[in-house]
Amino acid sequence: MEEKIIEEHKQGEALVLEAKEGNTKKLFIESYGCQMNFSDSEIVASILANQGYNTTQKLEEADLVLVNTCSIRDKAEQTVRKRLEKYNAVKKTNPKMKVGVLGCMAERLKSKFLEEEKIVDMVVGPDAYKDLPNLLQEVEEGRDAVNVILSKDETYGDISPVRLGGNGVTAFVSITRGCDNMCTFCVVPFTRGRERSRDPQSIIEEVNDLASKGYKEITLLGQNVDSYLWYGGGLKKDFKNASEIQKATATTFAQLLEIVASAQPNIRIRFSTSNPQDMTEDVLHAMAKHNNICNYIHLPVQSGSTRILQEMNRQHTREEYFQLIDKIREILPDCAISQDMIAGFPTETEADHQDTLSLMEYVKYDFGFMFMYSERPGTMAARKLEDDIPEETKKRRLNEIIALQQKHSAYRTQQFVGKTVEVLIEKESKKSDAEWSGRTPQNTVAVFPKENYKPGDFVMVRIDDCTSTTLLGEAVGYSEK
Ligand code: SAH
Ligand code: F3S
Repeated sequence: MEEKIIEEHKQGEALVLEAKEGNTKKLFIESYGCQMNFSDSEIVASILANQGYNTTQKLEEADLVLVNTCSIRDKAEQTVRKRLEKYNAVKKTNPKMKVGVLGCMAERLKSKFLEEEKIVDMVVGPDAYKDLPNLLQEVEEGRDAVNVILSKDETYGDISPVRLGGNGVTAFVSITRGCDNMCTFCVVPFTRGRERSRDPQSIIEEVNDLASKGYKEITLLGQNVDSYLWYGGGLKKDFKNASEIQKATATTFAQLLEIVASAQPNIRIRFSTSNPQDMTEDVLHAMAKHNNICNYIHLPVQSGSTRILQEMNRQHTREEYFQLIDKIREILPDCAISQDMIAGFPTETEADHQDTLSLMEYVKYDFGFMFMYSERPGTMAARKLEDDIPEETKKRRLNEIIALQQKHSAYRTQQFVGKTVEVLIEKESKKSDAEWSGRTPQNTVAVFPKENYKPGDFVMVRIDDCTSTTLLGEAVGYSEK
């Protein structure tokens, strides 16, 4: 199932945008990790389009190679190291090529990167992309360049990302940056800095712009979307003594959802990610009220054991999570729910692991992203807890979690058989060029014969069969959207 993430996010595939006339330099940019990185790369490509760069898919002809990196697990960092080896090999035939590292590894390793990896000319953290023109100037003059300064107000709200690399149907719009939650295992608060919310006005403008370009589905993106709060910019902590007036005029996540959903009633709205501790009931009511907000919640829990949740600094118990699940089922009966799980967090006992399995049994998630614990330098868990679960045990527990998830996914897809569901067509099916692939509001992939439909169409599909991850059916007409 971990594979699924990789598939969805096209890890490491070079982003290609429409060429801008007059640009002569060639940029090869590829991304690893979360959706936010992919979204950031579009911002970077947009900044560089104004610096004379057009994108290329050929590493061999690039003047500038940028890799947007992920630090979330050790494996993610190893993947990037391997890519740097590849760049090294290519540089032998293309000596003019410059290499820049972006994203979380850049932020985590800072100038150490320049010492550890000779191929790297430039290190740029996630809040410093607007400095790229200056940094490039340095590099062109033969100096190494580093900017890893984190910001308390940068949201790139004023940059409109160029998105011609995608399917033209679905797009991401970032609404917050950074994270203040400090889960003890997680490197994100260190690499992406403090949480900032983006001005709702600039969010709406981007959404309207995407709609006018024919996009049909928008995912509002943030590490922790439910804590979105706009009261004029800056960090929340600076507003501790904020007057009631400020609070009264603030925009919450539920309100933002409603604004976006009402502004574009014919466009599907999704959001990711929700941390259970920050999700409020008004979000569920907003979802119930607006048909175009998809009934799907990615609600990572990480563990089913209250003791482990505490060690992880997740601010809820197992029971509180169940209450939230019950609320979702009550307000949104057909809502799909997915999880992230970590197997083998320090001190995790067999009983804790059983708690995770029994929690899964209660929720029966539609799908999930499951990982072995990977100690990240500098995090609270790394400093305070010994990584004491043997690799073999982590692996076995992970496999048990994955096996149970597969059973539940199969159960969930089976529930759709015999029903007719709305599918937004995104692209050709990977398995057959005679079939379209799209997703239901619940985010389940559906595949069916093309007939005369096309990507971007909302189609009603009768589901006749399924696998544990995919619905198989036949289109019976357009949706009444
Ligand atoms: N709120 C974020 C979470 C980012 S990390 C979001 O937008 O999704 C994504 C997932 O990676 C986490 O939910 C967690 O399950 C996993 N993860 C994070 N740090 C990890 C670590 N040190 N080891 C293993 N998995 C980790
Ligand atoms: Fe990481 Fe927890 Fe934030 S998983 S991104 S610190 S909500």
